Amino acid sequence: MYSDLKDKVVIVTGGSSGLGKAMAIRFGKEQANVVVNYHSNQEEAMAVQEEIEKAGGKAIIIKGDVTREEDVISLIQTAVEKFGRVEVMINNAGIENPVPSHELSLDNWNKVLDTNLTGAFLGSREALKYFVENNIKGNIINMSSVHEVIPWPLFVHYAASKGGIKSMTETLALEYAPRGIRVNNVAPGAIDTPINAEKFEDPEQKEDVESLIPMGYIGHPEQVAAAAVWLASSESSYVTGTTLFVDGGMTKYPSFQAGRG
Ligand code: NAI
Repeated sequence: MYSDLKDKVVIVTGGSSGLGKAMAIRFGKEQANVVVNYHSNQEEAMAVQEEIEKAGGKAIIIKGDVTREEDVISLIQTAVEKFGRVEVMINNAGIENPVPSHELSLDNWNKVLDTNLTGAFLGSREALKYFVENNIKGNIINMSSVHEVIPWPLFVHYAASKGGIKSMTETLALEYAPRGIRVNNVAPGAIDTPINAEKFEDPEQKEDVESLIPMGYIGHPEQVAAAAVWLASSESSYVTGTTLFVDGGMTKYPSFQAGRG
């Protein structure tokens, strides 16, 4: 538990499923006031709201598409109206789909970049605007991926979006550090969420992914949420512009394990 997170106002985009849901609930356990943004599944979002409240936090749900500027502007405004302020912005919403790069349509490229990178930019920009105008030493956490550093054939749009997030986070961290505003990334490896459901249902594909993880197992959403609450808390008060990998060692060249090479 991080006592300074009590009553903090935390926005989580894509907060109705997977990592967003796990983070929203963990912030609820920290007794934070959580704003759960969701894209379309209101029932899912309401279930998350209920769990947050059961855990002792307060929660509201707000429908919105992170690729739409007006939705992101209104997300921050509504959060401030309902809870009086915002201290933590978590840009988590994201999508992926595999396509050979020479067959990738511009529409598909744009959709992934718009959601994963532009969505995170809009969320960061609006949070920064609010922090600067109100002199708040706020905190931004962007959901990156091990693919901010690991190339990923068939997922060029996804890898480009996460590489972009790395650069964006580092730049914003540098730009706003003098104001005490921190900007960091959480970069998960392979985690058991709906984005991977199909892949992990197939034992062969699951085993193949596990073979890329030095710790030998697919991560749990709660392990990613644990990293996010630490980054949001004052325990990480001197940390900015960094990526915290939560990947069971996936970025540490697993093919070199056991003295190979
Ligand atoms: P998920 O599919 O459960 O969650 C993605 C969420 O984003 C969903 O709730 C979806 O409705 C929302 N979303 C999609 N487009 C949106 C839009 N335009 N506006 C608002 N919300 C939108 O999958 P997961 O795993 O929880 O993904 C969350 C983030 O974590 C993503 O950014 C993903 O790239 C990242 N990530 C996930 C990993 C994993 O292994 N699960 C590994 C590395 C990164």
